[in-house]
Amino acid sequence: MQQLTDTIQVHDLQQGYGKTIVLRDINLTVASGDILALIGPSGAGKTTLISTIMGMLKPKAGSVTVLDTTMPNRQILAKIGYMAQTDALYDVLTGRENLDFFGTMQGVTKAQMAERIPHAAGVVNLDDDLNKYVKDFSGGMKRRLSLAIALISDPPLLILDEPTVGIDPELRQQIWQELHKIADEGKTILLTTHVMEDAEEADHVMMIRNGEAIAQGTPAELTKQYQVATIEEVFLQAGRDQDAHRRND
Ligand SMILES: Nc1ncnc2c1ncn2[C@@H]1O[C@H](COP(=O)(O)OP(=O)(O)OP(=O)(O)O)[C@@H](O)[C@H]1O
Ligand SMILES: [Mg+2]
Repeated sequence: MQQLTDTIQVHDLQQGYGKTIVLRDINLTVASGDILALIGPSGAGKTTLISTIMGMLKPKAGSVTVLDTTMPNRQILAKIGYMAQTDALYDVLTGRENLDFFGTMQGVTKAQMAERIPHAAGVVNLDDDLNKYVKDFSGGMKRRLSLAIALISDPPLLILDEPTVGIDPELRQQIWQELHKIADEGKTILLTTHVMEDAEEADHVMMIRNGEAIAQGTPAELTKQYQVATIEEVFLQAGRDQDAHRRND
């Protein structure tokens, strides 16, 4: 049986670009089988945190451990299904060829590919578009292909930066069904979103604002703690609390 451990551990992380500090005192653990949603205003530092967890940025202070490995570490990348906020696809290849290319990079064998490509394409409703060139894809189709690529190798960890942008409500539900199924298999999912319904689907939520974690917990814990009905209201109240603290400092 797989041991239950923390797939992601972030300790006292400080991060920034040049002299600008973007993230302060970030502490975060994501257990295996857990879905954590990062929410926060545009520019709050969500992508910066994800890039640091992926090892694309070295922490200015503090540490990041992924699958028991201190990041940055290139080897561990083969175990992460990553969907960047900006699509990184090959325009001159078809959808299927993109899946095949990135799958091969992630170590998926030809035999596995015959099963994985239809599965991943099915999750995002791209079955009928796989033979089209990506240059002829719509924006939403590109987002969906990026998500299918993150799923292609069935990795133990998924890191998804705004996976539901450009996705209609029906498909969003279908994607969430798949994400829950993946987590039930013991795999770990970290995602960012601006959609409060996504935050409510997650097991845990972390709110980042002005580079600080201002609230953290399960959706039920947070609504109870703030005595409100929705995650959106938690977020607004936690933001007001942060502003009040700052004025008092
Ligand atoms: N490569 C970079 N060089 C300098 N500053 C950067 C760089 N990338 C991001 N920043 C800055 O860091 C801050 C956080 O950006 P980040 O992309 O992490 O925000 P975000 O929470 O992901 O926002 P969004 O919801 O819009 O995606 C912003 O002030 C941004 O301008
Ligand atoms: Mg971002």
